[in-house]
Amino acid sequence: MKIIKTIKAMSAYSSKIRAAGKTIGFVPTMGCLHDGHLSLVEAAKNKTDVVVVSIFVNPTQFAAGEDLAAYPRNLRKDKKALKNFDIDVLFLPTAEEMYLKGYRTFVQVEDLGQKLCGRSRPRHFRGVTTIVAKLFNIVAPDFAFFGQKDFQQQVIIKKMVSDLNMSVEIISLPTVREYDGLAMSSRNKYLNKKQQQAATVLYQSLLQAKEAILSGEKDLHKVLVKIRSAIGQQPSLRIDYVAAVDPETLVEVKTTRPPLLLALAAYVGRARLIDNILL
Ligand code: PAJ
Repeated sequence: MKIIKTIKAMSAYSSKIRAAGKTIGFVPTMGCLHDGHLSLVEAAKNKTDVVVVSIFVNPTQFAAGEDLAAYPRNLRKDKKALKNFDIDVLFLPTAEEMYLKGYRTFVQVEDLGQKLCGRSRPRHFRGVTTIVAKLFNIVAPDFAFFGQKDFQQQVIIKKMVSDLNMSVEIISLPTVREYDGLAMSSRNKYLNKKQQQAATVLYQSLLQAKEAILSGEKDLHKVLVKIRSAIGQQPSLRIDYVAAVDPETLVEVKTTRPPLLLALAAYVGRARLIDNILL
């Protein structure tokens, strides 16, 4: 596994690989890797000749007062995990080089970025699309791999790729969960045992909603109320949103007729956790 830290060296490596006619698979991450990240790495290994993973805690997707400084970092453990997958390159750009003094350019997908998580994090997706566009320009991947845990992120990135005619194919993969159903997340590190147990209600309530809909429940309002009240029974959780949306447009739907994405976000201690289920 080659470790590359500069943009110039990364671009040169990618040019060489592409000139040799090989395909590049890319997995962008913010590190503190868990099995969710590693499922993307594995999919990349299976699909492409060369696999590049990046670790970069991107400052522009955090608002002032969010957890940029506290965001869990564990590069030593991450390197070890990636070595086991025998990836080709670990790209570790620096914030100084990614955002040079006087940096002025941002990529923003309109509307989609203001829905769901965008309501409480209005500039978050602008930071995500900006860094992902920059990374795509540098790494020049044929395929890039994203998780459905961040469903909205993956929808927005697909839209950016299509709108800006980027020549990369986005592949999205299912959410990897703990044995108790909690979606794996680097931010789960913020939770103590009790909070982690309380947080299992997030997925359980989504699962129950899915089962109710599949067994014929037509009243979407009732379904959403049931999710909210299940979460509300856990005093350590505070709901940010619970919503039912069209999985492509992220516009709220009125009926339980699939296709339908049930998505939610909740605060648990200092963590903000998200989850979703697709019907
Ligand atoms: P990060 O939260 O580190 O996630 C990196 C990738 O791993 C994303 O595509 C995310 O959806 C995926 N992922 C996280 N948890 C997952 C899980 N439990 N199961 C499956 N996939 C999971 O998302 C980001 O970083 C950043 O916004 C980034 C795209 C790197 C831009 O900075």
